[in-house]
Amino acid sequence: MLTGAVGAEVVGADLGALDGHALVDVRRLLCEREVVVFRDQSLSPRSQSEFSDRLGPSAEVPFVETMIDFPHVIRVVKEADEGAAFNFGGAWHSDFSFQVEPPSFTVLAAVDVPQWGGDTVFASMTAAWMALGPQMRERLTSLEAVHTARDAYSRRLQPLHSGMRGMNIICDDSANDERVHPLVTVHPETGKEVLFFNRAYVRDFVGVGVEETAELLDFLHNHTTDVRFQYRHRWRNGDVVIWDNRSTQHFAINDYAGFRRELHRTTVRGSIPSR
Ligand code: SIN
Repeated sequence: MLTGAVGAEVVGADLGALDGHALVDVRRLLCEREVVVFRDQSLSPRSQSEFSDRLGPSAEVPFVETMIDFPHVIRVVKEADEGAAFNFGGAWHSDFSFQVEPPSFTVLAAVDVPQWGGDTVFASMTAAWMALGPQMRERLTSLEAVHTARDAYSRRLQPLHSGMRGMNIICDDSANDERVHPLVTVHPETGKEVLFFNRAYVRDFVGVGVEETAELLDFLHNHTTDVRFQYRHRWRNGDVVIWDNRSTQHFAINDYAGFRRELHRTTVRGSIPSR
């Protein structure tokens, strides 16, 4: 276990050579512990794609250009001389939660990580839900959250993304689309209740006024990112971290100016979030 709330490390497994039984165990652990760390892996983009496909079909990857030869792999990269400029994933989010069927799992493999800095922080939305009192739970259970990528990938944000040399992000009008998901969902594999919230993509609630929405967004963001629910991963080359987007949020810290950082990411298609 990595913290009391979230995370586990598996020692001695080779993700490129897991048999069927081991894969079932890894999936169960992922659903239970929500973030799982594997050290000293050697996944190429091809073997990462193959491993990811064993967890389920690839999610659609909007806005971000993927590798030419591996159309489901994103290179998450910031060059050493890009300074403290914008970094991909540098806001609390759950991957592509604005999709109809947001990704279940993300697989992130470290290729070239900084000597220090560039950690990724994860927070358990199951632990965040469990820490709430009965009155707040009752209030939140009736809410439907509006997810949208408009404050991340709409056209006005193109200059921000174009500042990154190593990644090609193409903003378009589909970022303004809105998708409604229950705020409190039931995890389809564990049956546990989860606060399916992240500040980057949840921008509204159905039928809630402006003031109450602002208050709720602040409350939920502050509560769900509390240190009690977190695990902070310090990357080494060869690490593979897999997380469950249905029950976590994450945040890539942008504190490594002067160092290059490259990781390869695949995402597995999930199902429609429900209660
Ligand atoms: C992401 O948000 O998927 C990227 C996380 C990271 O680069 O640490």
